[in-house]
Amino acid sequence: MKSFPTGSVFPPLPQGGSVQTDLQREVLKLKKEKDAIILAHNYQCEDIQIVADYVGDSLGLAYKAAAAKNSTIVFCGVHFMAETAKIVNPTRRVLLPDMDAGCSLADSCSAEKLAAIKAAQPNLYVVAYINCSAAVKALSDVIVTSGNASKIVEQVPADRPILFVPDQNLGSWVSSKTGRAMQLWPGNCYAHVQFTPAALLRAKAEHPHAPVVAHPECTEAVRDIADMVCSTELMVDWCKKQTADTLIITTESGMIHRLRREVPHKTFIAAPTDRCSCNDCRFMKMNTLEKVRDCLISGKPEIILDEKIRAAAEIPLQRMLEWSKR
Ligand code: 13P
Ligand code: SF4
Repeated sequence: MKSFPTGSVFPPLPQGGSVQTDLQREVLKLKKEKDAIILAHNYQCEDIQIVADYVGDSLGLAYKAAAAKNSTIVFCGVHFMAETAKIVNPTRRVLLPDMDAGCSLADSCSAEKLAAIKAAQPNLYVVAYINCSAAVKALSDVIVTSGNASKIVEQVPADRPILFVPDQNLGSWVSSKTGRAMQLWPGNCYAHVQFTPAALLRAKAEHPHAPVVAHPECTEAVRDIADMVCSTELMVDWCKKQTADTLIITTESGMIHRLRREVPHKTFIAAPTDRCSCNDCRFMKMNTLEKVRDCLISGKPEIILDEKIRAAAEIPLQRMLEWSKR
């Protein structure tokens, strides 16, 4: 009989997370020599997270990128995140260790299609999840991340119909939280939709006292089973506050590295899919520490943006950064 995965178990990590390899030391030396800052998303592999100056979610990374004083930003994440850094801090050189690190959500929404919808419905207020291209941001009214989406949507003028792009799952979650009706773009994250209610219920049966946290990119059926739905950054605070010593984490498995460093006395279960004991985003995992070293040495691959698109994309991004603080 076929047995289904119930999730990988990551026990407490009392003294993990320190620089240990020659390659890590080489990257830290190069970083200094090249006046670079390394920003890394919570889904990056562990040896990149360890050498990064900051590890966080899309919102935290956008603020850090905007404030960066170094001449070079090495952005360890995916393409739309590195583009965002260039949009908000255009005088810095922004390097992405692997230029092919894309995102299924960003790919699902083309600027041409969005422009056509806007032309047909000129009164639409376009709320764009930050997981989209610079060209789509340039056509949007305001940007959101999973960490501030409800707060931002609540500030959209009440008389404007909203089109939410490109994640239908995040959009439906925000709509149910804010009570605001929205047209939803039919995009999704190929990695988060692999979590199913059946897989999550198996993990719960194996760890009956473990609370479940899920990312809002999961389907509604999965979110409904979770005790908490939030961005990757809020997951860290939530896990710290739980009295339970074992927690089920329903998002990309790189998150577990961050959690083990910041909440070292707890056990984390990477929520399984129906096929696997945890869940990696193939785009996030394209960056490796070797590629970080190589991009520091060569100064490539660099994010280059058309200035007209960058300037137009900066408007809704700055609006988000401002509204997010209100
Ligand atoms: P966060 O902003 O919550 O880290 O999410 C980014 C992302 O791409 C999730 O798949
Ligand atoms: Fe995009 Fe999903 Fe990967 Fe996040 S996890 S970068 S939304 S494909």
